[in-house]
Amino acid sequence: MLIPPQGRLRCGVFFRQTQSVIVRHYAKKGKEVDKATLAEMEKQYQKFANTSSKSLLKKHLTKEIFDKLKTRTTPSFNSTLLHCINSGMCNPDSGVGIYAPDAESYKVFGAIFDPIIEEYHRGFKKTDKHPESCYGSGKDFANLDPDNAFIVSTRVRCGRSVQGYPFNPCLTEQQYAELEYKLCSALHSLEGEYYGSYMPLAGMDKQMQQKLIDDHFLFKEGDRFLEAAGASRFWPNGRGIFFNKKRNFLVWVNEEDHIRIISMEKGGDLGRVYDRMIGGVEALGKKVKFSRDERLGFLTFCPTNLGTSIRASVHIKLPKLNENKEKMQKLADKYHLQVRGTSGEHSEAKGGVHDISNKRRMGLTEYEAIKEMHDGIKALIKAECNA
Ligand code: ARG
Repeated sequence: MLIPPQGRLRCGVFFRQTQSVIVRHYAKKGKEVDKATLAEMEKQYQKFANTSSKSLLKKHLTKEIFDKLKTRTTPSFNSTLLHCINSGMCNPDSGVGIYAPDAESYKVFGAIFDPIIEEYHRGFKKTDKHPESCYGSGKDFANLDPDNAFIVSTRVRCGRSVQGYPFNPCLTEQQYAELEYKLCSALHSLEGEYYGSYMPLAGMDKQMQQKLIDDHFLFKEGDRFLEAAGASRFWPNGRGIFFNKKRNFLVWVNEEDHIRIISMEKGGDLGRVYDRMIGGVEALGKKVKFSRDERLGFLTFCPTNLGTSIRASVHIKLPKLNENKEKMQKLADKYHLQVRGTSGEHSEAKGGVHDISNKRRMGLTEYEAIKEMHDGIKALIKAECNA
């Protein structure tokens, strides 16, 4: 067992220590990676390099890049390369395999983040700049499935980080509580269709929790990808969910990101769902300051969510295409869509219901991200009808 500067490192899972330690490191800035951490990183990397992982991390983390980055730390939190890649190395079945423990990591470890970002977001280069926000209007998008033949439900979400707070792996228990308090107060002041109430995860009845998960309202528990990324510390403290009265507007607090703003409802009225999300994010943005980077757009813990952070999805049944998975995947690739199972990523499609969404979120505006999903889903439905 080793004791790196950030905390205990065990079986490839790291933990950060209490606030006093973090605060002390703040003052020190950019501490050297100690020998024991370095040795552990080398050992894990060797093992990982020999796996047949298909992740973007495996593809892009060459020995050369690994060697270049392994001795670096971020100035404010002393985050190491290991903090970024632990999840991907512990979970070779990752699709991506990397998280930013703090915002500075995107720069300090840019040699590995940049190529992964470029591939995931289909060509967002390290010299590119994410455009200004432009939501446009949901009115431009007609119902994707007016006869209710294919789409079970539609969901649009975005993620936000709160200015002045690091991402999950660097948050202290006190900061979790502070963030929860701030967000809970802000959420409780929302009005009109956004009026609702916050339910903390701590102390939530297990049966109710499972029901909320089964109904696709609440995030799952025990995500091994997040856990290995250091994002489950002090769980369930500081985590929770906000609902409006109709339960078609939700906000997740301190799950993967500080904030996830979600609009969802049965059927295929993408425009209405999108407009509700825009209204919610704008209302909340008046009460809480969101972190945004000039180049990267809205800052999130996982590089797949940077930029717009928009994920627009449908739960959809396409029985004929379902018979020909290859064709479905080809079409999805063509329209930059991602196909997931019914309960989200890393899950199976139950009863032929898939969760299909826009894949890239960076290098395009919010409006364009929604349009990309809209056009892709339309094309899939057309292909299903012609199959
Ligand atoms: N780290 C996981 C993987 O690489 C999830 C990546 C994207 N999803 C997310 N929720 N950030 O498969």
